[in-house]
Amino acid sequence: MSDGFQDKLAQLEKLRAKAHLGGGQKRIDKIHEKGRLTARERVHLLLDEGSFMETGVFVTHREESIAGNKPVGDGVITGVGTVDGRQIYVFAQDFTVFGGSMSESNALKICRLMDQALETGCPVIGLNDSGGARIQEGVKSLAGYAEIFWRNTMASGVIPQISGILGPCAGGAVYSPAITDFTLMVDQTSYLFVTGPNVIKMVTGEEVTFEELGGANTHSTKSGVAHMMANSDQDCMLLIRRLLGYLPQNNLELPPVRPTKDLPDRIEEKLNSVIPDDPKKPYDMHDVIGMTVDEGEFLEIQPKYAMNIICGFARFDGMPVGIVANQPKVNAGVLDIQSSEKAARFIRTCDCFNIPLVTFEDVPGFLPGTDQEFNGIIKHGAKLLYAYCEATVPKLTVITRKAYGGAYDVMSSKHIRGDWNVAWPSAELAVMGPEGAVNILYREKLGRSDKPDELRKELVDDYTDKFANPYVAAGLGYIDDVIEPSHTRKLLIKTLHNLKNKKQELPPKKHGNIPL
Ligand code: HXC
Repeated sequence: MSDGFQDKLAQLEKLRAKAHLGGGQKRIDKIHEKGRLTARERVHLLLDEGSFMETGVFVTHREESIAGNKPVGDGVITGVGTVDGRQIYVFAQDFTVFGGSMSESNALKICRLMDQALETGCPVIGLNDSGGARIQEGVKSLAGYAEIFWRNTMASGVIPQISGILGPCAGGAVYSPAITDFTLMVDQTSYLFVTGPNVIKMVTGEEVTFEELGGANTHSTKSGVAHMMANSDQDCMLLIRRLLGYLPQNNLELPPVRPTKDLPDRIEEKLNSVIPDDPKKPYDMHDVIGMTVDEGEFLEIQPKYAMNIICGFARFDGMPVGIVANQPKVNAGVLDIQSSEKAARFIRTCDCFNIPLVTFEDVPGFLPGTDQEFNGIIKHGAKLLYAYCEATVPKLTVITRKAYGGAYDVMSSKHIRGDWNVAWPSAELAVMGPEGAVNILYREKLGRSDKPDELRKELVDDYTDKFANPYVAAGLGYIDDVIEPSHTRKLLIKTLHNLKNKKQELPPKKHGNIPL
């Protein structure tokens, strides 16, 4: 090798080392002190070892006013690698460079990556850690954001898009994650807000901390913006890897089947005693899910938000499914604004990516009250109904106990094209619960009676015998079978295999008009 070429190699190495240093060791140390990882460390943890190929390595910004400070890479690491051997595109904002803020060059790198991910049909993971638009670049930065938002929207429903929030994400940094399929946050070190505490104090006088305003807890319990909360950056990367395991590479593929040792015909006797004798007594629907799915493994989405409904991924005989389940343990599993929106979004995510839906139903109806009505339970509840109606993936429903009123229709009923609808013998399918029905139907008679309590009991027993059981609906063909609970897993698996080749077309249209 000539001396001249050796010099060139040395220059390359020097530049690469500079790129790897981002905004410098001091700033890296500061990140580590806060218990966080650098952008590069995150990428390496996320991807299979040695699989990362970086793009746009030597890109720098083009802004005159900060020409004296041109970090190599310009604050975002972009490239392609694999997760469990499957190709994944990733960008990671580097907080050590201008606070991870979005510049024109930075946006160009991300856009090129997103274009290629769409062209090759692979998921995009965004690891966000950014102070928003780079103030020095003004409108060029805003243009960059809008280019990304447009691509997020075009890619929606085509390739999975997952956002990790790993530091303070302000201003423009919040909207790309909001359009993607899943947003994961890290407890105590990540924040999402459109305007920060200082601006809020200036404009409204309200005082609020970063954590209260936009921390992982806030977005996991109050706003529902976060789908999952991790304990650390490391934990977050593992969660993203787990999540990818349930998703296909794109909307033209089926989700990946993972071999399991759990027998497909496993009979779970304990399911026969899950439902309490007293229909008013709660039980934990997590137990039903846990006993039914492969190896009890369930990846819950938004586990601390609208807990009266449970959404998440599991597998049956290795096949990924999306589970939607009413939770009798929380507000009797009633449907309200938040739970309707949560489930509607999850159902649409599953439908985009060819993931069959399994619904476990025990629902007393929609929550009554002025708060719900004034805030639009009609349009929000309609989202859930719309999402189930529109979904063309296999839809399997197991009614464990209550299926009352409008909620019976909404929760993937036969009438909105459920493919396989069954009930346990404990199921009650009716317009409303026996007591409510008797109060309405026999108000006068009860008022006239000298022994109203005895009469009410008689009427309630009569109504229960006649209507609060699965056999009226079964007789009408509204449910396919009444099954022994212990056989639920075996029958769900058989049905999922039977429905593997299901094809259902929607009428041609530009797009539907879901009530937003
Ligand atoms: C340029 C920025 C920056 C930005 C931070 N920095 N935000 N540089 N543009 N938007 C730089 C800081 O100058 C600092 O540089 C380094 O990043 C770290 O910032 P600190 O403030 O020291 O860190 P920290 O205390 O952790 O606070 C982080 C922060 C805060 C909460 C993100 O920096 C902040 O509030 N930034 C501004 C947020 C914001 O208002 N962004 C614009 C939103 S408007 P040095 O050299 O000291 O390391 C927007 C419009 C888009 O995004 C709308 C599209 C829909």
